[in-house]
Amino acid sequence: MKRAVGRVAISLEPMQLDDLETVLLIEQQSFSTPWSSSMFRSEVRNPTSHLFVARPQGEPGDIVGYLGYRVVIDEMHIVIVAVDPAWRRQGVAQQMLCQAMAHARDAACTKATLEVRASNNAAQQLYYRHGFAPVGVRPRYYMRPPEDALILWRDPL
Ligand SMILES: CC(C)(COP(=O)(O)OP(=O)(O)OC[C@H]1O[C@@H](n2cnc3c(N)ncnc32)[C@H](O)[C@@H]1OP(=O)(O)O)[C@@H](O)C(=O)NCCC(=O)NCCS
Repeated sequence: MKRAVGRVAISLEPMQLDDLETVLLIEQQSFSTPWSSSMFRSEVRNPTSHLFVARPQGEPGDIVGYLGYRVVIDEMHIVIVAVDPAWRRQGVAQQMLCQAMAHARDAACTKATLEVRASNNAAQQLYYRHGFAPVGVRPRYYMRPPEDALILWRDPL
């Protein structure tokens, strides 16, 4: 996939099953325990889940990232965020996050939470810049390698 230079403006759209081939390629490059196709399929069908893909404006064919969240009562639980390695550090994740938080506010969510690997400095910097704060630790929450999760909340959303 071609690489843009500088900041890129994105459009966020609901993920479709047709998007899964590209999403799975990004997923495998982004996580040591990637979601499978069936996990994405079940999430797309889950009525309390909202999965989005990001495309650069003006380039409708390219998926450069995706984000998913679940609604739990009035809470936005962010379950997945990833950006194609070739498109990182161009503002894709922060635009996905801001647009998804606006979507969740429209869906009556009043606060947001997620887990992040203790060593994942890139993601933590992203979330801290957008109003999330650490409130606890889930010991050895992750595998491959085993690692603690930080629990982050943004309250109010
Ligand atoms: C974390 C991730 C989603 C960030 O995506 P991105 O599109 O590159 O992020 P953005 O360009 O929107 O960056 C927004 C801010 O986050 C922080 N950030 C992003 N990547 C960073 C890095 N490698 N190092 C330090 N800070 C970083 C910076 O504050 C950045 O702002 P800046 O570029 O003005 O300094 C991406 O690195 C990724 O897909 N990683 C693998 C999957 C993952 O870890 N997902 C999160 C699981 S909780």
